[in-house]
Amino acid sequence: MLNWGVMGAGGIAYVFCNGMRFTDTGQILAVASRTQERIDRLANDFDIPRRYNDYAELLTDDDIDAVYIATIHPLHAEWAVKCAEAGKHLLVEKPISMNHGEAAAMVNAARENDVFLMEAFMYRCHPQIAKMVELIQAGAIGDVQMIRATFGYRSGFNPQSRLYNREMGGGGILDIGCYTASMSRKVAGAAANELFLNPISVKGNGKTGPTGVDHIAAATLKFENDIIAEIICAVECNYGSNVVIYGTEGTLTIPNPWLPSSPCRGAREPLPLDTTFPATQLIVQSSQSRETTEVTIPVDRDLFTYEADTVAIHIADRQAPAMSWADTLGNMQLLDAWREEVGVVQ
Ligand SMILES: NC(=O)c1ccc[n+]([C@@H]2O[C@H](COP(=O)([O-])OP(=O)(O)OC[C@H]3O[C@@H](n4cnc5c(N)ncnc54)[C@H](OP(=O)(O)O)[C@@H]3O)[C@@H](O)[C@H]2O)c1
Repeated sequence: MLNWGVMGAGGIAYVFCNGMRFTDTGQILAVASRTQERIDRLANDFDIPRRYNDYAELLTDDDIDAVYIATIHPLHAEWAVKCAEAGKHLLVEKPISMNHGEAAAMVNAARENDVFLMEAFMYRCHPQIAKMVELIQAGAIGDVQMIRATFGYRSGFNPQSRLYNREMGGGGILDIGCYTASMSRKVAGAAANELFLNPISVKGNGKTGPTGVDHIAAATLKFENDIIAEIICAVECNYGSNVVIYGTEGTLTIPNPWLPSSPCRGAREPLPLDTTFPATQLIVQSSQSRETTEVTIPVDRDLFTYEADTVAIHIADRQAPAMSWADTLGNMQLLDAWREEVGVVQ
């Protein structure tokens, strides 16, 4: 049983606490937030016994084993390093940091202080990713040639919101482009029997707005195994979410790549303990026969419960194969390159 401390009590912290209701690998022992109203809502809704008004108080609570950092991105690196130095294991929201340099400092801090660290790419912890890898490696679509990964929604422009405010880490590439980047690296890696591959070339384009962050962005990637990926993200356009993997013998579609099986996402109150979690599907279409096969992936927990359990299962190894340190560093390098192409590097 891991004793968790939650740092920051915003939207995603609420989702994670809800997910923790469905596991026996840990419990939320404390919440730390700058905002009393948020502390009270989270602590009251989820029966969290300890409430702190200052993030630093989590570091001095000896009963906390692991800290889940759920603040805006520019605070991730500073607090992760402090937590590691205090001997706390870490799950840090995506993107793990603002850039590759910060991520490298976080990994060093985890290594030097012998603590677990994982970037909270919850989608990587869901069984549909293991099934996707299995299908690719079993040759279900032949040799992988191209990947298309998208994540786009329309949020009204607000220069004070974390999505559009530069100081708060705004921009679509950091918010959701990180998913499309990490997925394409995962697929290219699966095709090469590796956990991931890093691209050998990144060409990007995008639309920026008055606050100097990207609203819409696209990139094409090339991998050493000649796989080409197209990745697209938007916080200003309802582009939708989907992943299609094109092979020599067929296509593999992931209709719900980022948020499968998650009643917790979007819930405004604690979910009942008898909640059931929806299975998700992968679709394989053979290019020769045109036959379509729906592969159903049964689940027994929420997406965010899988994430918390991944931490518990791998804590002794200090990193998890779902999103290893090298994987995170490669992803941040790609985001740096993409943001540079679009002209939004800070
Ligand atoms: N994995 C996922 O599905 C997912 C989904 C959404 C977001 N995220 C990630 O989670 C992080 C938080 O996103 P969110 O959607 O939860 O955001 P949010 O609802 O706006 O919450 C922002 C959080 O940041 C903290 N914060 C610290 N300094 C702040 C400042 N100067 N201004 C505003 N907030 C500040 C707030 O802390 P206090 O409680 O101390 O006030 C609050 O906990 C981001 O890194 C985001 O990329 C992940």
